[in-house]
Amino acid sequence: NNLNLALPVGTTLDRFINRQQEAFPYAKGELSQLLRDIALASKIINREINRAGLIDITGALGTENVQGESQQKLDMIANIRFIRALINGGEVVGIVSEEDDEIIQTGNLNAKYVVAIDPLDGSSNIDVNVSIGTIFSIYRRISPIGTPATEADFLQGGRKQIAAGYILYGSSTIMVYTTGKGVNGFTYENSLGEYFLSHPDMKMPENGKIYSVNDAYYDEFQNPIKDFINKMRQESGCMARYIGSLVGDFHRNLLKGGIYIYPPTRKAKDGKLRLLYECYPLAFVIEQAGGVSSDGTQSILDIQPKTLHQRNIAYLGSKKLLFNLKKRLDKYH
Ligand code: AHG
Ligand code: MN
Ligand code: MN
Ligand code: MN
Repeated sequence: NNLNLALPVGTTLDRFINRQQEAFPYAKGELSQLLRDIALASKIINREINRAGLIDITGALGTENVQGESQQKLDMIANIRFIRALINGGEVVGIVSEEDDEIIQTGNLNAKYVVAIDPLDGSSNIDVNVSIGTIFSIYRRISPIGTPATEADFLQGGRKQIAAGYILYGSSTIMVYTTGKGVNGFTYENSLGEYFLSHPDMKMPENGKIYSVNDAYYDEFQNPIKDFINKMRQESGCMARYIGSLVGDFHRNLLKGGIYIYPPTRKAKDGKLRLLYECYPLAFVIEQAGGVSSDGTQSILDIQPKTLHQRNIAYLGSKKLLFNLKKRLDKYH
């Protein structure tokens, strides 16, 4: 058989980052260090998640975030872990997090980068041992060195991202990121405490059979969306797959080909997903992998950002599927 039971010997994330840093246009060592800091934070969060059921850190915290969502204990633990790692790492001047209304100033005034994060994605899945994730997006600051981070640092637009990616805490833990030169995935080896390159130069299939949408909102969708979904359903071999963890749904579709759809609903007129720390980073990743992102009229990366926690419509998927969806939306607009 072809089963390879040997331990992974290959490229560690550290080594990969070192090799890649020659290609960074500027600030070579610093962005590398920042990516390592994120990887380190994710290892700690991975540990917390794995033992969550044993040490009573599942369940709601009893507080709400700026979006009016109930915060889970693990939301806050992941948030604190990330913030600490980024403060200690020293490469980041400010952080925007889903769980904090305001910019978090790290005090590293001479740092060159800012980070937007969704520390834990898929809150509704935390308590039930289903995959959850972390999403991150990195910009080079535009405010002067030596001063605190400003809103403008975070509102540069998706095209200005220097790096972005996610960590999926699934059947295994994987970190996937891009610095604008393709997409690479690194699987975590628990006993060694290392990420290993497992998915080099990821490419999304041009077409796919999977659509991911919260079907409970179907009746609220505009006709072109309904139409598109109906068309998908008629395809032979078509599959509906929706975990309710964006990172998990996204990662599966990236590997297998498919489309993720979060249209406007009655409750969420602009869609539900957050631009800075959910949509921009995943749009960067998917476009780097040959897929397409859209808000219905333009690439998500071209959406003009206005506020730190704004939401927007998100369609993320294989080229062909996005083409079919956009054809319908164009006719409708
Ligand atoms: P978060 O847990 O970070 O608040 O994100 C929740 C998001 C995303 O993970 C998921 O895809 C989406 O909410 C699910 O929304 P619905 O429950 O409306 O389908
Ligand atoms: Mn949330
Ligand atoms: Mn999320
Ligand atoms: Mn979250």
